[in-house]
Amino acid sequence: MANTILIGAQWGDEGKGKIIDVLTERAQWVVRAQGGNNAGHTVEVGEDRFVLHLVPSGILHEGKKCVIGNGVVLDPVALVEEIKGVSERGISVAGRLFISDRAHVVFPYHRMLDAQGEARKIKGEQIGTTLRGIGPTYGDKASRFGLRMCDLVDPEFPALLRSRIEEKNRILSAMGAPVVDAETVLDSVREAMKILGPLVCDTVPLLFEAVRRGEEILFEGAQGVMLDIDFGTYPYVTSSNATSGGASTGSGVAPNRMDRVVGVLKAYTTRVGEGPFPTELFDENGEQLRKVGREFGATTGRPRRCGWFDAVVARHAVMTCGVDEWALTKLDVLDGFHTLKLCVAYELDGKRMEVFPANIREVARCMPVYEEMPGWRTPTTALTRFEELPAAAKRYLARIEEVTGVRIGILSVGPRRESTLMAGPRA
Ligand code: IMP
Repeated sequence: MANTILIGAQWGDEGKGKIIDVLTERAQWVVRAQGGNNAGHTVEVGEDRFVLHLVPSGILHEGKKCVIGNGVVLDPVALVEEIKGVSERGISVAGRLFISDRAHVVFPYHRMLDAQGEARKIKGEQIGTTLRGIGPTYGDKASRFGLRMCDLVDPEFPALLRSRIEEKNRILSAMGAPVVDAETVLDSVREAMKILGPLVCDTVPLLFEAVRRGEEILFEGAQGVMLDIDFGTYPYVTSSNATSGGASTGSGVAPNRMDRVVGVLKAYTTRVGEGPFPTELFDENGEQLRKVGREFGATTGRPRRCGWFDAVVARHAVMTCGVDEWALTKLDVLDGFHTLKLCVAYELDGKRMEVFPANIREVARCMPVYEEMPGWRTPTTALTRFEELPAAAKRYLARIEEVTGVRIGILSVGPRRESTLMAGPRA
């Protein structure tokens, strides 16, 4: 039995939803430990396509239990919408979804402050957030002004919320923005809690006992290493730890109970929102990646920025997350290319860089050092075994393994569950 942390090894949108869905077969529990409804995990099951934002993808598997951990920031109204959405499609959350009473709550004023924050920044300094109120909610958590799920069921909640809203309204008015009506917010929270209330509990003993019984937990990472608040391209990051450490602090499952880290990597690179991106393409290759890869945000619908595979980024994930194995996704998107480029290092002011710089102004000056590799020009989507891959695809994958020092254990060649190749021992 192994507790597995699954992380995004780039800028998010690596295809984690699908890999989680595949790995869930073996797990009894699926746990979200950070982020909020800024995430959008797409899973295709048969003819059905689900996009989940807060509810762990494990919910799509009968009998699996799901936890929204303390490290998540949770918008109660959005969560109720999502629960209704899956319920309408025949999936019940009763007795299967547990929400940490320590999770911080996203209120409308957080979303409004997120929007104001972005609108008031000068061009070039905007982060391009998902406008879900993520940053302001984590900000309140760090400044000890937040409210948590346990507060929502406390008799003092109306007073606690009114005083928060009074303070936030002062800030919103000073910005010239509309203010929030406390009673409307209270009503909407009360309504949402009719559905969420029975799901809220202390998830720490729940997971502790699960580990004791030897049940397997899958930690569903959201966003990616390069969006991590500590190790990403700060300040163009999200406000939580998307690296593997976040799985522990965001769930209460201790680090020594974790067994394995799977890093999800796209066969190329994408990014939504602002911030440096050394291998970004502005030519027809970038267009082709966007079009063939359907690179449009699952949460916001924004077109994603696209570029070649970047091994410096992947190695950053290996170092900060302890990646044991890659799940490489969307290889099929590269099927039509004559030539592929793979960035193995950067050049900064005439010097070769093997590691990702902290300073984003330096990152912006980094020139990728590329290796060129021939494409395979044959469809891979129908393949079911690694051995069947075209020779050029095998070489591309082997080079990724070489330059990152980590083996590819899972390969995805299409959005459906069936298009997943599990690596056995390879020559
Ligand atoms: P926030 O998390 O909404 O504050 O957005 C901060 C940055 O993270 C922005 O560049 C977003 O586009 C990016 N981001 C947040 N969540 C995701 C995600 O799930 N996938 C990809 N990018 C994300």
